[in-house]
Amino acid sequence: MREVNEHTITQAVIDRLDECKDARFKQVMTSLVTHLHDFVRDVRLTEHEWITAIQFLTAVGQTVTPKRQEFILLSDTLGVSILVITINHPPEGGSLESTVLGPYYWEGAPQLPLGANLAVGVKGDPTFYSGRVLSADGTPIANAMLDIWSGDGEGTYDMQMEGDVGMKARGVIRTDAQGRYWFRSIRPTFYPVPTDGPVGDMLRAMGRHPYRPGHIHMIVSADGHLPVTTHLFVAKSEYLDSDAVFGVKESLVAQYDRHEPGMAPDGSKMDTPYYTCRYDFRLRTARSAAA
Ligand code: BEZ
Ligand code: FE
Repeated sequence: MREVNEHTITQAVIDRLDECKDARFKQVMTSLVTHLHDFVRDVRLTEHEWITAIQFLTAVGQTVTPKRQEFILLSDTLGVSILVITINHPPEGGSLESTVLGPYYWEGAPQLPLGANLAVGVKGDPTFYSGRVLSADGTPIANAMLDIWSGDGEGTYDMQMEGDVGMKARGVIRTDAQGRYWFRSIRPTFYPVPTDGPVGDMLRAMGRHPYRPGHIHMIVSADGHLPVTTHLFVAKSEYLDSDAVFGVKESLVAQYDRHEPGMAPDGSKMDTPYYTCRYDFRLRTARSAAA
């Protein structure tokens, strides 16, 4: 019989991986067990705290539905999602940085022509977005795809709206022969991550707010280039310094310039103030990524 104590238990568990055939899985599990045991010893975890943690994780699992992934929200709010993204997509030579996907991506948004208004009938300050999609060396990329989505000007996504409102503030557009894009939408505002589940309880217990700064999501992709899942953050938005999911990257903060009513960039006449936002996306080539 091999009796374990507080200190020998860790190696005893790791020894049981001797027959593991998958080298990577063995490495990950060895490290996980090591850190998990160190954590338990470090905080001198009580039995009450241990069962509370088990109940919490059970509740997280029970909150998951086809439309709600509470485990990803847990990962997001603990900074694990952005850590994994940043390790796997390190910033490189001014290329477009990645950030969290979030729970409101809806595949199959309508393909719209350049200049389209993605946010017809959506509340919020009208905003005219424009820029270019470029290769790492600055060459414009024709026919690059922007899959775009955001909440409305009050921070509500179509998926959260009462009733079945369908897709709102979403669309897929493609760059022209000069790599240019332009479209109309709204200026997004800050909003909270879902707080009516166990992750909300955790945030409250931690004394944390649940807000994300205003941002518009996009997946930018082009043949021969690495696709990037990202956001543009509204400069000076509230919570830019304390995003609940730690997704802000300086390079993704975009200026939104306010204009008085008058002629908009697309030639239309605006009766209300509107904004313009210009941003160029620089994609890494698939080849340089492999290297
Ligand atoms: C969002 O951007 O919509 C989001 C991202 C992570 C967690 C919750 C919401
Ligand atoms: Fe979002």
